[in-house]
Amino acid sequence: MNNFTFCTPTRYLFGRDTEKETGRLTAGEMKSHNVLLVYGGQSAIRSGLLDRVRLSLTDAGVTFCELGGVKPNPTDDRVYEGIALAREKKIDGLVAVGGGSVIDTAKAIAAGTLYDGDFWDFYAGKTPVEKALPVGVVLTIPAAGSEGSGNSVITRIDGLHKISLRTDMVLRPKFAVMNPALTCTLPPYQTASGIADMMAHIMERYFSPTDNVEVTDRLSEGLLKAIIGEAAKVMATPDDYESRANIMWAGTLAHNGICGCGRAEDWTSHFMEHEISAVYNVTHGAGLAVVFPAWLTFMADVAPSKPAQFARRVFGVENRDDKGAALEGVSALKAFFGSIGLPVSFAELGIASPDIDLLVSKLHENKGDLVGGYRKLSPVETKAIYMLML
Ligand code: NZQ
Ligand code: ZN
Repeated sequence: MNNFTFCTPTRYLFGRDTEKETGRLTAGEMKSHNVLLVYGGQSAIRSGLLDRVRLSLTDAGVTFCELGGVKPNPTDDRVYEGIALAREKKIDGLVAVGGGSVIDTAKAIAAGTLYDGDFWDFYAGKTPVEKALPVGVVLTIPAAGSEGSGNSVITRIDGLHKISLRTDMVLRPKFAVMNPALTCTLPPYQTASGIADMMAHIMERYFSPTDNVEVTDRLSEGLLKAIIGEAAKVMATPDDYESRANIMWAGTLAHNGICGCGRAEDWTSHFMEHEISAVYNVTHGAGLAVVFPAWLTFMADVAPSKPAQFARRVFGVENRDDKGAALEGVSALKAFFGSIGLPVSFAELGIASPDIDLLVSKLHENKGDLVGGYRKLSPVETKAIYMLML
């Protein structure tokens, strides 16, 4: 096991009606009194959530301005707009109402507002984020895990570069309000995509070159098994509060860092997917349902031991040969994704003729000559993995 630090300072307020506490947490936990309220397209308006949050802020004496209409796979133009607004209104914090796209936009604005330069410098790796305005979250979709992570993923429209920025602490939300009942309005495809995304967050950490991480391994396997079990229930009964609650909490634990303790991580599948969603604007989690089985198929050949453990412990595969077990695990994972309505190939994702050479060149332009932690992959190898998605 490697040395590690683990600190997850976000205050999670979990359960029914918790959005009514947003104002109290903003003024108290965040110590912000004039905030930028960031939200997405229609869902939070339609459900009345946005009005409840506005009322809660007002009741707590918090003033606010608004940036709405953030789209999935969020782009830099909204971040620049938000930074200009934040400076003009002299805000002292941000409240994000939505999912990963909204939260990541709020985080980028939080960092960019206090930076005397182009916020994209952080994403381009030119300079680290040293300070940011505090961010609070009202989560409406369990998926990206941004409510508990220090990360933010933004697409630069010029050149379609979708880049993930990772910070240890500075971009972790101060609080996350998590009411599972708010997720009952999610369309099935978004629910399923969120499930694939949170599973991928666990697996990116699980497929590690570090040995002797039995506790973190078992924690990860237990979470994966719980997600798979709850997924079947939530897809069959979308308004079942209990399974919504289990899925929502799993999404946070998948990505707040606890599944990475003591080990190096992989993240190849995410980087490969980010290129697909940058170029073809697909839903991130659905893209991962296509990428991860292909990556695992490749690994079954070249480094089968951990994929075999995954297959045996998560899917109960009994095959004693590592490669055989790993491949049975891939089939089980694909069957699971299929059972909740997710694609497992480019064609099923709606991309009839993907430009694989473009995806490979953008991947290595953004991430370097070799990509990955479980096994470092060259452009020839990442191309082979993209080909497995055809
Ligand atoms: O815009 P609205 O109308 O709200 O609709 C959204 C959006 O269309 C809808 N939605 C959200 N909550 C809803 C709802 N519809 C009905 N009822 C509700 N309660 O869902 C759609 C997707 O929203 P989005 O915020 O894009 O979803 P998600 O949370 O999956 O975020 C995806 C983004 O996060 C990034 C992804 O790459 C992608 O850009 N990620 C961020 C990470 C992080 N910051 O740590 C890690 C992840 O790996 C990921 O890369
Ligand atoms: Zn993800």
